Amino acid sequence: MSTSMEPGRTRPNRRFRARGALVLAMAGLLAGAGATALSGSAQAAGTTLGAAAADKGRYFGTAVAAHHLGEAPYAATLDAEFNSVTPENEMKWDALESNRGSFSYGAADQIVDRARGRGMQVRGHTLVWHSQLPGWVGGLGASDLRSAMNNHITQVMQHYKGKIAAWDVVNEAFQDGSSGARRSSPFQDKLGNGFIEEAFRTARAADPAAKLCYNDYNTDGVNAKSNAVYAMVRDFRSRGVPIDCVGFQSHFNSASPVPGDYRANLQRFADLGVDVQITELDIEGSGASQATSYANVVNACLGVSRCTGITVWGVTDKYSWRASGTPLLFDGNYTKKPAYSAVLSALGGSGGGGGTASCTVSYSRTNDWSDRFNGSVTVTAGSTAITGWSVAVTVTAPQKVSATWNGTPSWDGSGNVMTMRPNGNGALAPGASTSFGFTVMKNGNNAAPALGSCSAS
Ligand code: G3I
Repeated sequence: MSTSMEPGRTRPNRRFRARGALVLAMAGLLAGAGATALSGSAQAAGTTLGAAAADKGRYFGTAVAAHHLGEAPYAATLDAEFNSVTPENEMKWDALESNRGSFSYGAADQIVDRARGRGMQVRGHTLVWHSQLPGWVGGLGASDLRSAMNNHITQVMQHYKGKIAAWDVVNEAFQDGSSGARRSSPFQDKLGNGFIEEAFRTARAADPAAKLCYNDYNTDGVNAKSNAVYAMVRDFRSRGVPIDCVGFQSHFNSASPVPGDYRANLQRFADLGVDVQITELDIEGSGASQATSYANVVNACLGVSRCTGITVWGVTDKYSWRASGTPLLFDGNYTKKPAYSAVLSALGGSGGGGGTASCTVSYSRTNDWSDRFNGSVTVTAGSTAITGWSVAVTVTAPQKVSATWNGTPSWDGSGNVMTMRPNGNGALAPGASTSFGFTVMKNGNNAAPALGSCSAS
């Protein structure tokens, strides 16, 4: 990789597109020569996460742990599906410089060299972070700490110069909660707020071609913490402090679900003139609800032109930092989960379940009074993601539907046949469900409504 990439450019993505074209050309040549299979890491366009993302001008990456690379299905899944990697722990300060001035690059080099040899890009994670910091750093006085921080950034970035697409220069420097304050750390406590700016300026000097990111969690929606990060980025941009990207870790679970304003939050950062990246995505759960959440994340990124890529925080559930929450796209046997199909479909790829769009419906009576009842219809997508659905609900005269919710109804001339369509976005991931409801005035007739078949698009 040359070292002359301008900040703000998305060259790696163009390279992936070019690679897709090259693969197709190679396929033609091989077919002409009688070969039956592509070798190595060649990917047919759109049938893997990386290829489908590349078709959208983005990368799709994963965190990688060096000590799992010898496990054949781990390596095979990594190589087949992803076109970007982030070392999960191997580039942290305690891994690279556990003793002052003595750098150990072995495990990180293994990941970087392996990835680059396969045409994958690498995210560097992370240069300045309060965690996984060797004890000696915390023991330094202010001026010593300043030179240790700048030396660490400089040495590490120069070692990897030209090999890292984007660095998380500073990670998790803000507190959770409503204060918008900086998190206490040796850097914050001894160097003050200016340590972040200093780290970015040092990083730019060390490898001018690498994109420089600020990375954090619980900043995925608009909240006090993301507002504080936003104010910092806006300030940096206005004063010419070098920052090219903001990473949104996006560790989600039921207590911290994908926020409704996720896309809008990514967009407001992008509007400051930085790229945005989803850097550590995982979503605890299973089945259709997990799949829907993953699809929502992908759609949010695709909806923001400066969202340049997505990284999931691990290849397989069994090695996740939240393994019990099964938050990733492949299960412990490296089998693709519904979430995988949902991501691939959302990226516009094929093979994410195959087949044509379909859906099924089921009905239940949820409340019953003497004069009326409430009904609920659940619409479930088949094995392929759908973008819309409709279903007819017929009540028996003199019954009348008096209210509806979570859908957009239209009526036939008699007023007894109601065709329900989505209220807004009708997208459903493979196997995912949504429900709509209605109230039927009995007018002396207690019959259940008749459901037509579900029609999907
Ligand atoms: O490798 C040692 C092993 O030799 C030892 O026996 C074992 C005993 O505890 O520890 C192993 O190291 C662990 C390391 O992961 C590798 O598995 C560390 O204890 C453990 O603390 C470390 O956890 C990492 C965590 O960061 C540290 O804060 C997770 O793997 C890693 O996924 C996680 O990643 C962070 C991001 O960097 C920043 N954002 C949040 C994200 C999730 O916490």
